[in-house]
Amino acid sequence: MKKNIAILISGRGSNMQHLVNLSEDDDCPFRVALVVCNVANAAGLTWAKQQGLPTYVMNYKGQDKEYVESNLTDILDEQNIEFVILAGFMKLLGKTFVRKWQGKLVNIHPSLLPAYRGLHTHQRALDDHVLFAGCTVHFVVEDVDAGPVIGQAVLPISHGDSAETLASKLLPWEHELLGRAVTAVVENKVTWTDDELVRTQAVQEYLQIVATNK
Ligand code: GRF
Repeated sequence: MKKNIAILISGRGSNMQHLVNLSEDDDCPFRVALVVCNVANAAGLTWAKQQGLPTYVMNYKGQDKEYVESNLTDILDEQNIEFVILAGFMKLLGKTFVRKWQGKLVNIHPSLLPAYRGLHTHQRALDDHVLFAGCTVHFVVEDVDAGPVIGQAVLPISHGDSAETLASKLLPWEHELLGRAVTAVVENKVTWTDDELVRTQAVQEYLQIVATNK
């Protein structure tokens, strides 16, 4: 039986769309049971509604963060959500929510963590003249972009790349990596419990992508 996931977004939602498309396959172990967005007019939210997916708008404005996120947990519990995926969700979640979902809360970040946590990852990589960019899927902890790594894709930076060209070259690999990582986590092939990450060699290789230009 498929496990229910919720996807949290703030904008375009291309990573979310990729997970929705994957979930339509009979063999996919997850079902997108809820799309949550903190921006009422986000393009990704409009797309999810058009697909007839259940959606929920999280409104932080003028509200206590703990209260907003405890309401979200109630909704996730009502919908029998087992895993929560942050896919371009630009808000920092509070410690109560993060602790409650520990080991079940996954984020995608557009850098090779632990390098370039936070924003403007591609420009910072270019400014440092590094030769590889990439993306990371990781379990979420209280510190931003700091949890244990589930999988990574590495992409060589080409001479003349800009932050924009890098972002667009990397995006298809973000989709690929996120699909693989969410599948592995939902199937309990990568687990993080009691501060211990468990991942078999085969799964490690599956979650280790050397990207080329797609
Ligand atoms: C992605 O690059 C993701 O890694 C970052 O925000 C972007 C979201 O893109 N955190 P999309 O909304 O999934 O298209």
